[in-house]
Amino acid sequence: MSPSIHIDPSRHVAPVDPRIYSGFTEHMGRCIYSGIYDPANEHGLIDANGYRTDVLQALKDLNVPIVRYPGGNFVSSYRWQDGVGPRDIRPRRPELAWLTEESNQFGTDEFIQWCRLLGAEPFICLNMGTGSLEDALAWLEYCNSSANTHYANMRRKNGHAEPYGVKYWALGNEIWGPWQVGQMNAADYSKQAFQWAKALRLLDPSIKLVSCGETGFSDWDRVTLKTLAPVVNFHSIHLYTVSEGNHDVNVMGPAAAEKGIEITKSLIELAKIEGNLTKDITVCFDEWNVWDPVRAPGEKGAEEHYDLSDALAVAAWLNVFVRKADIVKIACIAQSVNVISPIITSPTGLFKQTTYYPLQLFATLMQGTSLSLHVAADGPEDAYTGPTVPAFVASLTQHTPPAARLTKWIDASGVLSPDRTQIRVALLNRHQSAAFSVPIVFGPNASVGKEVTVHEVWSADLRDRNGFEADGGERVRSAVRTVGWEGVYECKEHSFQVLVFTLVQ
Ligand code: AHR
Ligand code: AHR
Repeated sequence: MSPSIHIDPSRHVAPVDPRIYSGFTEHMGRCIYSGIYDPANEHGLIDANGYRTDVLQALKDLNVPIVRYPGGNFVSSYRWQDGVGPRDIRPRRPELAWLTEESNQFGTDEFIQWCRLLGAEPFICLNMGTGSLEDALAWLEYCNSSANTHYANMRRKNGHAEPYGVKYWALGNEIWGPWQVGQMNAADYSKQAFQWAKALRLLDPSIKLVSCGETGFSDWDRVTLKTLAPVVNFHSIHLYTVSEGNHDVNVMGPAAAEKGIEITKSLIELAKIEGNLTKDITVCFDEWNVWDPVRAPGEKGAEEHYDLSDALAVAAWLNVFVRKADIVKIACIAQSVNVISPIITSPTGLFKQTTYYPLQLFATLMQGTSLSLHVAADGPEDAYTGPTVPAFVASLTQHTPPAARLTKWIDASGVLSPDRTQIRVALLNRHQSAAFSVPIVFGPNASVGKEVTVHEVWSADLRDRNGFEADGGERVRSAVRTVGWEGVYECKEHSFQVLVFTLVQ
């Protein structure tokens, strides 16, 4: 049986929010130090402030709109005050998330300056572990206040006359997790976060607040949304997919995220009904990626070395966010540099991992309006039916959502381009060894030109990885070609491609 794709350009889901292609930089491993900030670099790779210019360029090429900071688990014992002011008197501290030491040579001012260079908006996660509401208010005042008050004046004294206008603030990170400094149950967290939200808004009513959710399919999400819906703009969910050495599990994993998003959408609706609320609350999926914490432990810097199978998993993730454009308005790949990242640096350069290329194709091409396309592939042999949630997540959350509807071998999302002249289809064949002839049917009142431009990520061996030049360079990247279009796409085994069609009026 051959799957087919059906696209009606008038069936709009919602605009694709460019913020779904956002990033995340945590004080973890080599993300900040020697990733984005490398002041001792002697190879001509830094600017006058010590920021890596090659990293900035690689991230600019990904169109990163927002960057989340400073954690992650790191934030739950972070004192932001240590990271501002003269560098020589910033204290070194024990670091409890990844069991290292924090030099504080990079802090809030450096992060904001770096975001400006990147052209991205900063998104700060607050410390709800060891941090107090007083610390959180002080941080917000330091960043955003134009008043003649202590922390606003401290920012001025540190050389930054104008407020930073940081719009996005998260109420803690993974507070539900046993690894979190300051773990709480859902009721305690909600009670505290509600009070924090109230106070933060008193200081700056213009901020957007993000509640700390779990996977989206957990009771934590239900309880926290019920209490926090009146005071937040976004509900955060996190999930990492894990191959556990199995390609099928790897590429089907994002189905659990898609289910989680659907469940969260309903939980948001329920919370709004119960609270009699008409405001918008959407999903901020502010940590997602392929990560096997056994293979690449956080305490060792979590430097995953991705292969083609992982790149296909990243494409599956991004298809989910484009399909769910009505409810997912922000998503941050975790993380942006070195730590479970599409970019790996050394003192003399960087290489782009296999996962960089699907991300770049999505961030540059899959913009505009998400279309409700249909993949017709309903036979039992067309879908995978095994687990989609890593065992450690399953062990934490009582239940895992069934996702077979979302685990077809052919996985796709589609957009109408911003200027409405093109239809772009992100087409993923998750099957290890089967190629498919895929009819793509446009209709009922649409037709496309006689050529299609194909941006493809493929290599013969699913285990192919990229490396520095000395290690063989980049074997997996994207290649573009334009070919004639006669209605059927010959889709290679284990391949990802974005097909660009021109609409004919
Ligand atoms: O991104 C790595 C870690 O994964 C983050 O610090 C934490 O929030 C999550 O568990
Ligand atoms: O590696 C430590 C923790 O383990 C991560 O932060 C979390 O995602 C995982 O469960």
